[in-house]
Amino acid sequence: MSGNSKGPTHWDQRYLSRDAPWNSGLVSRELIRVLREERISPCRAFELGCGTGINAVALAQRGFDVSAADFSPVAIERARTLAVDAGAAVRFAAADLCRCEDLRAALGTDGAAACERHCSFLFDRGCYHCARRVNLASFLETVDWLAAPDARLLVLCGNANEQMEHGPPRVTEMEIREEWGQLFKIEWLREFRFEDRGGVPGPRGWSCLMTRR
Ligand SMILES: C[S@@+](CC[C@H](N)C(=O)[O-])C[C@H]1O[C@@H](n2cnc3c(N)ncnc32)[C@H](O)[C@@H]1O
Repeated sequence: MSGNSKGPTHWDQRYLSRDAPWNSGLVSRELIRVLREERISPCRAFELGCGTGINAVALAQRGFDVSAADFSPVAIERARTLAVDAGAAVRFAAADLCRCEDLRAALGTDGAAACERHCSFLFDRGCYHCARRVNLASFLETVDWLAAPDARLLVLCGNANEQMEHGPPRVTEMEIREEWGQLFKIEWLREFRFEDRGGVPGPRGWSCLMTRR
């Protein structure tokens, strides 16, 4: 579990106790805006740290061939139920994205073959800003393993320009540029607001669209 003090058990407990303000129950407005503005058309997609799956299901409903992973088994179980209820086909895996071999095993032989260097759209809402604190290099290795040569990656993460006691882990613009710069070319980086539970405006975030180098 990569020496992560905030491992699956921590996240399971947050989902079980409903101490999960990010889990808005709504599809990310920023994701939908970027798909529309950038004309990102259906392709093989992967969601990093998908939580209870609402955005993975939304992508599948828009014609994407979606795989998604999160290391909280509780979240993945809910995500699978959501997909079945919505009639959406999503390949969900309970796995630590800081351990690529864990992800490969959880995806199974066919799932791993479908994902390896085949994902042309990757989406991350709130996973990178956690995983970078644990093992950034290993997290990036997993992203590298997933990303097709033409891949685009949309990262939504906490924004260090906002000073607040609670809220998501925060990242500076420079950290994003430095940490992703070797693997991806940054197309743009802009501020946005997360939605919290019930769709209320949440913390300030970064929205960053990148293309595989
Ligand atoms: C802030 S939540 C966001 C969940 C979801 N993306 C959403 O928007 O509702 C962060 C998620 O990342 C997952 N996560 C954090 N570190 C992870 C890791 N190393 N591997 C897999 N999932 C991880 C957590 O379990 C949690 O569900």
